[in-house]
Amino acid sequence: MDYLITCADRGFSGNPYEAGEDRTYSMDALPQEYPCRGNGDYRSTAFIVCDSNGTTGCDLRFQGYEISDGKYSIPGLPAVYASEEEAETLKICLADSVNGLEVTLLYGVLPEEDIITRSVKVKNAGNSKLYLEKVQSACLDFVGGRYDVISFYGRHAMERNFQRSEVLHTNTVIGSRRGASSHQYSPVVILAGHETTETSGSCYAMNFVYSGEFKAEVEKDQYNQTRMLMGLQDEAFRYPLDSGESFFAPEVILTYTDQGLNRLSQNQHACIRKHICRGKYKNQVRPVLLNSWEASYFDITGKSLCQLAKHAGEAGIEMLVMDDGWFGKRDDDNSGLGDWYVNEKKLGMSLSELIQRVNAEGLKFGIWVEPEMISEDSRLYEEHPDWCIAIPGRKPTRQRYQLILDYSRDEVVEYIFDQIYNEFKDAEIDYIKWDMNRSMTDRFSQALPAERQGELCHRYVLGFYKLMEKLTTTFPQIRFEGCCGGGGRFDMGVLYYAPQIWCSDDTDAIERISIQHGTSFFYPPSVMGAHVSVCPNQQTGRSVSIDTRAALAYYGTFGYELDPNELNDEEKEAVKRQIQYYQEYALTSAFGKYYRLTGVGHEFVAFMSVADDQKSAVFSFVQRRTSANKGIIYIKLRGLNEAAVYTIPELGLELSGASLMYAGLPMPVIKADNTAKTFTLIQK
Ligand code: DGJ
Repeated sequence: MDYLITCADRGFSGNPYEAGEDRTYSMDALPQEYPCRGNGDYRSTAFIVCDSNGTTGCDLRFQGYEISDGKYSIPGLPAVYASEEEAETLKICLADSVNGLEVTLLYGVLPEEDIITRSVKVKNAGNSKLYLEKVQSACLDFVGGRYDVISFYGRHAMERNFQRSEVLHTNTVIGSRRGASSHQYSPVVILAGHETTETSGSCYAMNFVYSGEFKAEVEKDQYNQTRMLMGLQDEAFRYPLDSGESFFAPEVILTYTDQGLNRLSQNQHACIRKHICRGKYKNQVRPVLLNSWEASYFDITGKSLCQLAKHAGEAGIEMLVMDDGWFGKRDDDNSGLGDWYVNEKKLGMSLSELIQRVNAEGLKFGIWVEPEMISEDSRLYEEHPDWCIAIPGRKPTRQRYQLILDYSRDEVVEYIFDQIYNEFKDAEIDYIKWDMNRSMTDRFSQALPAERQGELCHRYVLGFYKLMEKLTTTFPQIRFEGCCGGGGRFDMGVLYYAPQIWCSDDTDAIERISIQHGTSFFYPPSVMGAHVSVCPNQQTGRSVSIDTRAALAYYGTFGYELDPNELNDEEKEAVKRQIQYYQEYALTSAFGKYYRLTGVGHEFVAFMSVADDQKSAVFSFVQRRTSANKGIIYIKLRGLNEAAVYTIPELGLELSGASLMYAGLPMPVIKADNTAKTFTLIQK
């Protein structure tokens, strides 16, 4: 493809010394695979290193390459995994002859999923210490074209809203400075042709396999070329590299399609299901659960939980999850974090007894933990006040009255592991919800020397992964669900350890439309924690029918967040029906191919999933706003077998895949706002 590269003599775009008389060879204008600061490329760069004299010059030159079967892995970090037959690895070796750096660009190629992964190993092969100041994992330079950048912004309880804007002559930067990947921006970015739609056109995605701070940049340069970068947030990052020491950048997953955004999502969904999620449950339909949080908040006892389990069992619910409030001194969110021992006095029974009783109602048992946190009002804080991230001599910023444990310290990670292990080892626990409810501030570790404080945030994430790895391998029978005040750490890193993540603390079905819509650009429904909760909704005050609430939860892990006993008879019957429906069709709605049929418009929204063998599909239509005497809405379905005939029991129709996809399906008249209808398509 090198015919695409053109050179021209351009003012104020300098030339490497070796170019000699050739003033047309400029790092500032040519596409770069791994651009560094200091060698004449003035665009935003992937790599900045400083030596102990304070110089930032760096000039990485090609040394050689290697191709091998299988997919590389990264020490201590989550990454796409694949068999020898499914993937190949390319390593490109670069070196700087002055500072002694050896940089290896790692590429994993998975042709079946149309995925290329990238990571970087940086080794200090010189004699003196170097300081890494920016290490991005992937850079793509586009020599021409008109592009849009798509990213996903949000806030607590309203995550991953879609936004799209044209790439202009500016640097568009999104990222997180919060310690975790964040509610505010998702660690993903798409570069789409300006004309690209859901169903046509070129688009490129980058998705960071990392749960800490990130940065993604898209910049159109002076020559109308576009650069796309993704990697670690560099604002508070400084990583000293001693002679002989190596650093590994977390992985970025790249994918491309010329078939529009929906296909781009499907490439990633397949990659996540097959090559990110692990464990014996990764392809299994999740048990329908009842979570105690919105039903009882902190007001739980063993007796009240058994009552919940009894009513849940009558409805057909398969698992009870005891959320926050069961440990240490924890009657509200002011205290107790760090003390992972069961508060038998509050529960009125031991954990084993509670589990036995819940099991006796025919339910599995799950439990909530928040292992990365510490309350000042806790035994752990009394014993180890230096174990939290805080600056000595300054009052720390409190969020939800809690501080973050310093997971850059091995002894802290070990201690928390031991506590949880001891408490859970003899209990029949089927599921753990792993929560994390604050962002990082007051960055300081009492265990790191001054010059290493810039590593803290990354080392914290490595500590988190270490604990996740240890717990998931010690308890392979336990299903894990990630959570961070809902979806504040919804990323590939977490999915590598926990094959599902609680999507949002906002359980309002109508708000969930845009949250799950945004989430679906990168993540498949099978990993999205989604529950039916009580109405009026506790976050928004809105009331919608129980079937509308279920219509959103079907495209997720499905569960309930309410007291079934407080439902009216009609709703109780609906719950039984919904559970049976999910059990029958989850392999379609949650594990099938997902199609966004519309945007998240104010009038109506439609989406569907089609089973891999195209034998069934689940399709939902949500009317947002009713209006008198309006025209009929026709929705064109997608992903069906054209030649097959599908029965739609809810409509009493039999139609060919071709009719449904090319002529569409007329939607029934619904005389109500915010009402969803779900239809099943069964191949005859
Ligand atoms: C935040 C979570 O997102 C909620 O679901 C719940 O588990 C609370 N934390 C408990 O404190």
